[in-house]
Amino acid sequence: NEGALWGGRFSGGPSDALAALSKSTQFDWRLAPYDIAGSRAHARVLHAKALLDDAELEGMIAALDRLEADVRSGAYAPADSDEDVHGALERGLIERAGVDLGGKLRAGRSRNDQIATLGRMYLRDHASYIAEDVLAVIDALIAQSQRHPYAPMPGRTHLQHAQPVLLSHHLLAHAWALYRDLDRLADWDRRAAVSPYGSGALAGSSLGLDPVAVARELGFDSAVHNSIDGTAGRDVYAEFSWITAMIAVDLSRVSEEVILWATKEFSFVTLHDSFSTGSSIMPQKKNPDIAELARGKAGRLIGDHAGLLATLKALPLAYNRDLQEDKEPIFDAIDQLEVLLPAVAGMIDTLDFHTERLAELAPQGFALATDVAEWLVRQGVPFRVAHELAGDAVRVCEERGCELWDLSDEDYAAISEHLTPGVREVLTVEGSLSSRSSQGGTAPEAVAAQLEALTAALQEP
Ligand code: ARG
Repeated sequence: NEGALWGGRFSGGPSDALAALSKSTQFDWRLAPYDIAGSRAHARVLHAKALLDDAELEGMIAALDRLEADVRSGAYAPADSDEDVHGALERGLIERAGVDLGGKLRAGRSRNDQIATLGRMYLRDHASYIAEDVLAVIDALIAQSQRHPYAPMPGRTHLQHAQPVLLSHHLLAHAWALYRDLDRLADWDRRAAVSPYGSGALAGSSLGLDPVAVARELGFDSAVHNSIDGTAGRDVYAEFSWITAMIAVDLSRVSEEVILWATKEFSFVTLHDSFSTGSSIMPQKKNPDIAELARGKAGRLIGDHAGLLATLKALPLAYNRDLQEDKEPIFDAIDQLEVLLPAVAGMIDTLDFHTERLAELAPQGFALATDVAEWLVRQGVPFRVAHELAGDAVRVCEERGCELWDLSDEDYAAISEHLTPGVREVLTVEGSLSSRSSQGGTAPEAVAAQLEALTAALQEP
């Protein structure tokens, strides 16, 4: 079997059961272009050590180029008998370069350093695609907040009315969380930009090959300083999978709100037709499936991350075949995010906010009680007392079934001599919002400043 990379010391071939268990081409074939890039770089360091002559290097690169074209077009694909991407590609190389030349490439490398390197290359590429997609969600949140710079909404804690906030302030809170995910991906890349190629099976190579030259050709900043770490370390994968899970969790939080907002009871938003779904039986239905899938997939990505950590737990050095299980969870996380993020971006960008309803609800549920207490503090009343007095006003309102602004000057005077008619200046949403003008607050000018800060942060490299 030409796809086999081992066999000399075995008297017979592998059993069908082993071959079926061992096989990974069904998921690792997506790494083929990266493996071929690694092979080109490896051929050049073999040549630098005179282990390939000029003609051999030229023939090898030409054969690898043809192989890559055939892999990309689909003309070349793994056979049933191929164990993994490495074996399948060696078979393809030998078909194109002949066994004498093709058989020389494997010197000084192992599937262990290859796979560790290819995984990092794949993750780094997809980290940048995911970052672009996350940025599109952030842009949608920014666009919505720019469409509604002054619209108030009920701010909530414990899902209960708490204090009025600007809708733009609320939306940008989700944008900041996603911005930190972008920052995490960029920071992660520093650790991922180190190539394990040249680590061999675990101990390095005796052929004097230059790992740094390979690293540079493959777009890494440097090569690992420890071949055991290079072949057996997977914390860089685990960190990546944590970041993808965090992104999914962040999407699930905004999605859960969209699900609530789109209910009849909230009526905060209408979903765009092209980003919502119908029911096969109920003709009236318009469902927030994108948001629900985001919520559901967050669970899935947490599972991917937990599964990967469980694979790594207590694994002795160096390479163990358990590590073949590292790929499917991260590939799954990437695949899910790459279909989810564009859908969430579109859903958010096309939300139709019912700003009148948001404005009407913003002060309800005694959401201005804190403003009353803080107004009293500005009149010199200790906050402990102010809190009690504002609470008294809420209680009176609750008894009468009215809101704070419905109480008369006499009602307020009866509660406390400190509650003079001047308190009315904070009994409006606008007064409440504009008073929260320090950095990070919900006043229109503070939100404009935070948007500027976020835009500036996004511009940083
Ligand atoms: N398919 C293997 C993996 O994903 C490649 C490395 C195999 N190495 C080995 N010694 N069997 O980890």
